[in-house]
Amino acid sequence: MSSSRRRFLQILGSSAVILAAAGTGFVMTREPVSARAPWRNAGQYPDPMRRALSWAILAPNPHNRQPWIVDLISETEAVLYCDPDRRLPATDPYDRQITIGLGCFLELFRQAAAEDGLNAGIEPFPDGGNETHLDARPVARLQLTEGAMPDPLFAFALDRHTNRNPYDTDRPVPQAALDTMTVASGGQLTCGYSAGGTQRDRLRSLCWAASEIEQTTARTWQESLDLMRIGKREINANPDGIAIPGASMEILNGAGLFTRTTLGEPGSIAYQQSLDMQRGWAETAMAFFWMSTEGNSRLNQLVAGRGFLRAALAATQDGLVLQPMSQSLQEYPEMAALYEEVHRALAPEGHTLQMLVRLGYARAVAPSPRWPMETRLRQTV
Ligand SMILES: Cc1cc2nc3c(=O)[nH]c(=O)nc-3n(C[C@H](O)[C@H](O)[C@H](O)COP(=O)(O)O)c2cc1C
Repeated sequence: MSSSRRRFLQILGSSAVILAAAGTGFVMTREPVSARAPWRNAGQYPDPMRRALSWAILAPNPHNRQPWIVDLISETEAVLYCDPDRRLPATDPYDRQITIGLGCFLELFRQAAAEDGLNAGIEPFPDGGNETHLDARPVARLQLTEGAMPDPLFAFALDRHTNRNPYDTDRPVPQAALDTMTVASGGQLTCGYSAGGTQRDRLRSLCWAASEIEQTTARTWQESLDLMRIGKREINANPDGIAIPGASMEILNGAGLFTRTTLGEPGSIAYQQSLDMQRGWAETAMAFFWMSTEGNSRLNQLVAGRGFLRAALAATQDGLVLQPMSQSLQEYPEMAALYEEVHRALAPEGHTLQMLVRLGYARAVAPSPRWPMETRLRQTV
């Protein structure tokens, strides 16, 4: 083993180096506390529209781009747009996943409003939509009116996180929990799951193969690299994208071993570590759950986002953790063969797969960063 690889693993193993750093107080101060403030501030606003929006920004969304931007019209009316600078052109060329993220936002908005007894009127794409890429037209017009019942799933909004730890391979996922997710998703999506056997094995291999393609395709890997925020300072400065917090990562970064440059160099230790980590994600998937739609319109994608948010909250309620594994569903030429394969396997009726996630049990993770709600509002009333 080369000396730099040994050094990398020693730091990553968090033993002597981290203990030494702990003595200086460094380790205790590495949490990106301000980047997580929106999780503490959710619901802490006097007017109902801001209150609901402050929850909606906690929605899951691809690469944590937070593509939402909202025109506030009054305390009960607003218009949701997609921020064109927050798209993912390499891995999501038609904005399918970005639209799913906006669907997650809308569902969390609806649930938060219902908690206040307010019904969220959601008029999707009131001026029509562009099917190849989202344009400047509104994604949805929002209106709050009296008269809604709270949704029990909302209680799990603060506990729902994307969990990228390895999952416990001794704990199977109960079928009942997967059935609960299916019911929670709302009936407008076709859901399926696999919690063992050869189908799960095949999906583990397929997800790993797709992750490998994404990383070894320069263009798509660069899109991720550009969005990596390594360490507290970078995460607090840009509370979005792929956040990599933690003392060991900052020490490796400071030592020049784990940087956006080394992560982009095939053959480097950091590049290999990234591949190994992604293989671990696929190999410890204890169940896969997927959702498809008969068509692939913008409306279908919003419905998929809303159903995914609900299914994720139901999984959280049951103590499960999950991580979307979207690579094989992505529409770019290098992925075409795996896109076809995963559709043949999971949507033979000709549907479009909108979400594919792994599930299991794992150590909890901290909330991911968010831009404060105020920075996503285009005009204030
Ligand atoms: C449409 C969609 C696709 C996603 N694909 C992936 C993925 O392939 N890998 C992954 O680790 N997370 C994926 N995510 C999860 C997001 O990265 C995550 O929601 C975001 O970073 C915010 O973190 P949170 O879910 O913990 O709040 C996806 C989320 C959505 C909505």
